[in-house]
Amino acid sequence: MNQPSNELLNFPSPSTIERFRASNPISQDESELIFSDVKRLLWFWDNYDKSATDGEPNSDFGFTKSTSILEKMWQCFILSSRDYQEFCNQYLSAYQHHPRLTPIYDTNLVELGEEGAEEIYVGGMLGTCIEYLGEDVTVRWFDTYLQYANDAFERKLSIMKDRRRADYHKLSDVPKFTKEGFIVKPVPAELFAEITSFNEKSKDKEKDEYEEGGILENIISSKKHRIATSLRQITRDLRTSIINYIQPELETWTGLELFPTYVYGIRTYRRGAELKMHKDTLQTNIISVIINVDQQVDEPWALQIKNHEGELFELLLQPGEMCLYESATLEHGRVKPFNGNYFSNVFASFIPLS
Ligand SMILES: [Fe+2]
Repeated sequence: MNQPSNELLNFPSPSTIERFRASNPISQDESELIFSDVKRLLWFWDNYDKSATDGEPNSDFGFTKSTSILEKMWQCFILSSRDYQEFCNQYLSAYQHHPRLTPIYDTNLVELGEEGAEEIYVGGMLGTCIEYLGEDVTVRWFDTYLQYANDAFERKLSIMKDRRRADYHKLSDVPKFTKEGFIVKPVPAELFAEITSFNEKSKDKEKDEYEEGGILENIISSKKHRIATSLRQITRDLRTSIINYIQPELETWTGLELFPTYVYGIRTYRRGAELKMHKDTLQTNIISVIINVDQQVDEPWALQIKNHEGELFELLLQPGEMCLYESATLEHGRVKPFNGNYFSNVFASFIPLS
């Protein structure tokens, strides 16, 4: 990938800077630098998305605590709509309409807390950032800009927490859809063949996100930074297949008419990974599936799940097996540290239509 031109980076928008500085006590020079990084990020999205194999936006590169100051500046830029439009027309292949969503980050934020979410998410972005934008930019975004994060991030965190509280508040309104709450079944053979073929083909795309003493460790030196999971994006075709095969299975099982909300790419857990007991967010994950794609384990790694009566079960999924479950009402997790080389799952979530 080329680098953004100086002309692009210097594209002026005094009203953006003015709007930004009105609510942020940051110097003119520093604000200009943050603004140039927003333009760099927009350029990066545009080019990175074009390089994606399935033409889908690479939504895995979004905003986290570290980069929340960029998000703030971007909002100011969008509000200077004439400038923003001109910039998009002149330098991007498409207008960036909507705020970038970071659903995986937000889910992790709720499930694992701030540190856990940041660890997984930033870990996932560092390699890409270094590769395409270089070390200086990466250090600035994920280390230097952390000093500006608190304000912008605290607001986001409190919104997420409110949403979480609201979820629990509404839990009493969510009925039990099935007697047992979860069930383990074989994945339809044709679908599993498709998933396996993608898994094999895309293995080399999985970048090691952490090396002992390596660059990733140096960048975030302030805390122990261990990456225990990674996420691979799947193609649009595979996502469609997963929905087409899984939705009828879930509809038959629950007797509901469902609407797909998320299909998460292949998440690979590494040695030491664990997932606290939690319930999924009500907005999007009411009925879900976990498909085990592949595993290399030193000892079986159980999914703990409590049924509607609160009894705890341990499920050992094998490749080609899936667990259908009521993910917003049943507590689930993987509370024992993973002992093995890898454990790869695909997830999909649905909500009832009514
Ligand atoms: Fe979950």
